[in-house]
Amino acid sequence: MKRTLIKTLLASSAAMDRIRVSGWVRTRRDSKGFSFLELNDGSCLKNLQVIVDEAVPDFAQLKDVATGAAVEIEGALVESPGAGQKWEVKASGVRLLGTADPETYPLQKKRHTDEFLRTIAHLRPRTNKYGAVFRIRSEAAFAVHRFFRDRGFYHLHSPILTGSDCEGAGEMFRVTTLPLCPPTPPEGDSPFAADFFGKEASLTVSGQLEAELFACALGNVYTFGPTFRAENSNTPRHAAEFWMIEPEMAFAGLEDNMDLGEDLVKAMTTHVMENCRDDLELFAKFVDKNLMTSLESIVSEPYARLPYAEAVAILQRSGRQFEFAVDFGVDLQTEHERFLCEEHFKKPVIVYNYPREIKAFYMRLNDDGRTVAAMDLLVPRIGELIGGSQREERYDVLARRILDSGMKPETYWWYTDLRRFGTVPHAGFGLGFERFLMMVTGVTNIRDVIPFPRTPKHLEF
Ligand code: 4AD
Ligand code: MG
Repeated sequence: MKRTLIKTLLASSAAMDRIRVSGWVRTRRDSKGFSFLELNDGSCLKNLQVIVDEAVPDFAQLKDVATGAAVEIEGALVESPGAGQKWEVKASGVRLLGTADPETYPLQKKRHTDEFLRTIAHLRPRTNKYGAVFRIRSEAAFAVHRFFRDRGFYHLHSPILTGSDCEGAGEMFRVTTLPLCPPTPPEGDSPFAADFFGKEASLTVSGQLEAELFACALGNVYTFGPTFRAENSNTPRHAAEFWMIEPEMAFAGLEDNMDLGEDLVKAMTTHVMENCRDDLELFAKFVDKNLMTSLESIVSEPYARLPYAEAVAILQRSGRQFEFAVDFGVDLQTEHERFLCEEHFKKPVIVYNYPREIKAFYMRLNDDGRTVAAMDLLVPRIGELIGGSQREERYDVLARRILDSGMKPETYWWYTDLRRFGTVPHAGFGLGFERFLMMVTGVTNIRDVIPFPRTPKHLEF
């Protein structure tokens, strides 16, 4: 007999004579002649109650069943007389698959701090909260693919290993097969000549450059993959490895880009609200009491849109003492982004047309010569969720910007080449998947929405 998921059993419309269910025991309670098990198999937040009569063969095995043990149960799904659950299982057979020693199993039934649970990231998905986080993560990923497929976008697998720096920020992890102290290369040779690729190689910070090439062939594409940044910023919103969704549209401009970003955030949020009710309620109850109201506003209200210059003016007029002073030409900090969303507009905000100096080389230069067609989508509690732009499609302007940014034009020859053959206006953005998950769950640290966080000095698991 195949096992049935607890999620399926709890949603059953009728009793069932014979079922098999497997899972991890959350608690065992004994009373005269019976044992009660609360069983969870990860398929949903709720546990299944199992009643084992002492007449059941192998009842004796239960004495070794403690919190965390794995068991397999055969029995009947029957209506539960107890309050709070519709169904329970009356066991006819019990099999102990794996014990968990109560002396050493760290997830005993009590509340644990997020900090402690990070030290046992191999076990934390077995808690209610982290089970919920990672079920939501899976659903949200599905929502991404569905959104783009419905709109005729093609999914592109952009490379992880790369010889270029998309953001031009030099925050890349080097990939090499050279020994730690390689022999000095012959006079005039690059130190990377002897390396695996014969040139400097890194983990990608973004799939954008490749996505642009494919958008200018397939029309509309998106990437959804891991990206890596060696920025030494120990904040609750930065990880060295994170997942990014990067759509790229040919024949599109800044406004199309803003529309797509807003639609994507709304669609992903709606999908999670519709498909992860129980899990979301846990966060609304224990993590952020205002979660549901803020999610309602994210899916229903039109987002504010304003140029960077106006955002700066609002911040300057606010009378607020910010840690970092605001002035035209400085990048907005999280405190400024949050002020705009949480206090001024009280909803998500899209800021566009940033000064060219603070944005990447590939963003399209506006006619004013001072700003680029950039856009950041900011959300309450997080700040920047999306960063994107219309791309510079004019060969000469792009070549100039690459030089001005101090980058090596020969590394980007294929990227500039795109502007020589059938160049078209195009635009795209990157949405940080973990930041989205923080937004929908109310979780305040990025380390708690990614299975195994990678941050400076942390590479356990
Ligand atoms: O603004 P960013 O750096 O933009 C790009 O990488 C573009 N190439 C995207 C594009 O246009 N195709 O990053 C995009 C988003 C940010 O808005 C943020 O949500 C997330 O990626 N992000 C991070 N998330 C977690 N940890 C980090 N270190 C992050 N850096 C960026
Ligand atoms: Mg950005």
